[in-house]
Amino acid sequence: MESHCMTRCMYMSRKLVAYFSASGHTAKVAEHLAEAIGADLFEIIPKVRYTNECLILL
Ligand SMILES: Cc1cc2nc3c(=O)[nH]c(=O)nc-3n(C[C@H](O)[C@H](O)[C@H](O)COP(=O)(O)O)c2cc1C
Repeated sequence: MESHCMTRCMYMSRKLVAYFSASGHTAKVAEHLAEAIGADLFEIIPKVRYTNECLILL
């Protein structure tokens, strides 16, 4: 039983779309991509949010 589970796990593919988006554009693309390929979605959120002032300087 245990070896059957291990074999199954080895062949199961798990997908994750991890993204960082400041303006929301990349978030939308990531959502579409995750849905299209059946992946989980994970947003990378900075501990300290970037302010609009910081983003303008980049
Ligand atoms: C402050 C800041 C830091 C970023 N750092 C990285 C980075 O280290 N590596 C990377 O590949 N992209 C980095 N990016 C790009 C983002 O991952 C993403 O591609 C970009 O913010 C997309 O634009 P959006 O905010 O309009 O969705 C950074 C973007 C910002 C605003």
